[in-house]
Amino acid sequence: MPPYYLTTPIYYVNDAPHVGTAYTTVNGDALARWHRLVGDDVTFLTGTDEHGAKIVEAAEAHGMSPQAWTDQTSARFIEAWERLDISNDDFIRTTEPRHYAVVQEFLQRIYDNGFIELGQYTGLYCVSCEDYYTPDQLVDGLCPVHGRAVIEMREDNYFFKLSAFEQPLLDYYDSHPDFVRPIPKRNEALGFIRGGLNDVSITRTSMKWGVPVPWDDGHVFYVWYDALINYLTAASYGSDPVRFDALWGAAHHLIGKDILKFHCVWWPAMCLAAGIAPPAEIFVHGYLLMEGQKLGKTLIQSGVVGEGDGARSLKITEVSPLALADEFGVDPLRYHLLRDISLGSDGDFSYEGIVARYNADLANNLGNLVSRVATVVHSKCGGVGPACDPDAALAGPVAEVLAAAGAAWDRWAPQDALEATWRLIGAANAELETTEPWKMDPGPEVESILGNALEVLRIVAILISPAMPSTSAEIWRRIGLGADLSAVRVPGHAAWGGYGGGGGVVKGDPLFPRRKS
Ligand code: MSP
Repeated sequence: MPPYYLTTPIYYVNDAPHVGTAYTTVNGDALARWHRLVGDDVTFLTGTDEHGAKIVEAAEAHGMSPQAWTDQTSARFIEAWERLDISNDDFIRTTEPRHYAVVQEFLQRIYDNGFIELGQYTGLYCVSCEDYYTPDQLVDGLCPVHGRAVIEMREDNYFFKLSAFEQPLLDYYDSHPDFVRPIPKRNEALGFIRGGLNDVSITRTSMKWGVPVPWDDGHVFYVWYDALINYLTAASYGSDPVRFDALWGAAHHLIGKDILKFHCVWWPAMCLAAGIAPPAEIFVHGYLLMEGQKLGKTLIQSGVVGEGDGARSLKITEVSPLALADEFGVDPLRYHLLRDISLGSDGDFSYEGIVARYNADLANNLGNLVSRVATVVHSKCGGVGPACDPDAALAGPVAEVLAAAGAAWDRWAPQDALEATWRLIGAANAELETTEPWKMDPGPEVESILGNALEVLRIVAILISPAMPSTSAEIWRRIGLGADLSAVRVPGHAAWGGYGGGGGVVKGDPLFPRRKS
């Protein structure tokens, strides 16, 4: 089984999980599940980024120590991802001893290789960004991202000689055309590099909440320099060379566009400086936007204003994925996040959007197909699923959809994979509407129609499993195949002809009751 190592960014614990961080995590999870389905040996990693001034500030605001605060907030991420059915194989916290060891070993290597030097830094620092700005980057004297005041920082710092990597990075990009995807994001990264790279300050003396610099104990590493290394820690860098080599050659980072510079410029340069290859691929997704949305009170978790007519517009970071999951169900939320926005582009998040997608695709299409097939199997075949016809006309669309969905997942396009799957659901519903098996007498003809519809449901259950794992298992159970799809692999098991019949088909409650609003 080829290894496939997939990572999400590790999230700051200054805040609770929100629908933006859930967007990345759900997309990562669906991709990880797809890769398991095709037989890859997947290691899917997520976690929390727990050092830095921003965390200390949040802890102080809550009257807690940084450690107590990060323990509490990190747990909220673990719980949220469990609730959203995220199948991560590991969860890394940057405050773990295993991470300290790797940060120190990796950066010591870069130091020994001559790419870290002592210098003095004076600059304008935004605590929320954990980043320095030049005066001309400020907007009205404030941080351009957060609109908050910047502080002047002056300290002795160690610097990473990023400037030495301008040409090596350009060469690396040149010889690895798929290193950063999609293409516009690759071009953005190349633009940064061609614009000239300055050395970066990578340690702080003004703060204690970080990983100590091994060769100078008055310093801790700057949070970004520690954070990026999480990907190595979880791949057993420095402790298990065989595992590390296998995973690192197959490392794929999924990130949002806000952290492109760190991942696509700094990180490959750090890897080169330490004498290891950069990761295999970085996929940069767009942003989930929410302009002027007013969500109902029930959708908003604690701490957010939302009283009746006075409800103010929310920011996306204020929308809780858990509240959305309570309202719509976990799978419909996952489906919305995967289906409505093209990964790689920006997209709008809206309450109406979720409802519309839910009613059109889940209630009217998939849910309807499942319930009408089960109903007719009960009325015409005594509740026992008939076998499919190996030569059925639906075999053609199935092969086409299977190829399209596979190609879409491979190019990080869950939206297209699901769109293709819904074409198949549409074709099966259309076939039933044309043949109207509910009007036929029991016999071979009705059995063949229903056997084929059950076969479509079997294949659909497989194809939706990365996006909607519980729904997939429930359809599998209802069509009489048990509840366990873990041994199912594509394309083999998804080829037409697998539904042998003879199993009990279960009539159940509607999978997705239609919603009014
Ligand atoms: N801790 C750093 C990442 C270190 S990775 C070595 C960080 N954390 S974060 O909590 O701010 O999370 C940033 C990531 O969350 C983005 O890159 C993106 O994946 C996700 N998103 C946050 N808001 C988002 C949207 N509104 N839309 C889509 N994704 C969003 O940066």
